[in-house]
Amino acid sequence: MQLENSVALVTGAASGIGETTAKTLAAKGARIALVDRDEEQIERVMQDILAAGGQCVAIAADVTSEEDTARFVARTVETFGQLNIAVSCAGIIRDGTMLNLDRETGKVSRKLSLDKWNSVIDVNLTGTFLTLRDAAEAMVNGGWDGLLVPISSVNKIGQVGQLNYSATKAALERFPKIIVGEFLLRKIRHIRCVGIAPGYTETKILTEMNQDALQAILKDVHLGRLIKPQEIADMIAYCAQNEALNATTIEITGGLCFPGNIAK
Ligand SMILES: NC(=O)c1ccc[n+]([C@@H]2O[C@H](COP(=O)([O-])OP(=O)(O)OC[C@H]3O[C@@H](n4cnc5c(N)ncnc54)[C@H](O)[C@@H]3O)[C@@H](O)[C@H]2O)c1
Repeated sequence: MQLENSVALVTGAASGIGETTAKTLAAKGARIALVDRDEEQIERVMQDILAAGGQCVAIAADVTSEEDTARFVARTVETFGQLNIAVSCAGIIRDGTMLNLDRETGKVSRKLSLDKWNSVIDVNLTGTFLTLRDAAEAMVNGGWDGLLVPISSVNKIGQVGQLNYSATKAALERFPKIIVGEFLLRKIRHIRCVGIAPGYTETKILTEMNQDALQAILKDVHLGRLIKPQEIADMIAYCAQNEALNATTIEITGGLCFPGNIAK
């Protein structure tokens, strides 16, 4: 797919990976719909893109709302006449172990709340489902070439303290195979789906993570540093351009390994 004159919708575009992806695609000639619930920050990103000579529209929306996902897809098509790329970057973490024990009694003192569980499932999993479903609907009905990009995570492997988050990212990792399988069945040949599973990336979501755990994990990263959002954004742009990439989730982790776990 040519990025020049394509139309890309990016959720979570007010910050981090979504912001950098939106700016990168805009710099390569795509017209961009910026979606985020943070109105002030998507306005800022929009001004940056316009100042750099790009074309974009900012749409404040909550990806967990079915009315909102239908609205932002419709607004994108009304504004730019088509939709080719949908990148679902909106995501949150609400970490905590399933059970907390009282140090003295050894009995359970606190459980992971249903609220923490539901909020992560709603944004990461349901929000991505609604975003990609409605984007795909527009692409099929419009007959436009398309790419759907769910964002998984290296923590799909199962991070302790992230039962909710890891569950969503493990599920999202499977989206490309299932969605493209369905497209094959329905003879929809013009839309691809490629997932991205980033490793630990320098964005504000990491500041909410347990910092001791983060430092411990970084020791296992061959690259020896956090990944830059630009490195993820460049991969997403490449996925759009290389039509052989399809029905898979690509890990971009800087070489996260677990040498301590090697069987001896
Ligand atoms: N940063 C990392 O290390 C890392 C690693 C792996 C995967 N990821 C994933 O990449 C994606 C982007 O993460 P990031 O690091 O850029 O985070 P970030 O916190 O910088 O950005 C996330 C954006 O999503 C928006 N958002 C949250 N809930 C929303 C909702 N209900 N509706 C609309 N917008 C909403 C936030 O306002 C924010 O602008 C997430 O799905 C995250 O899980 C991040």
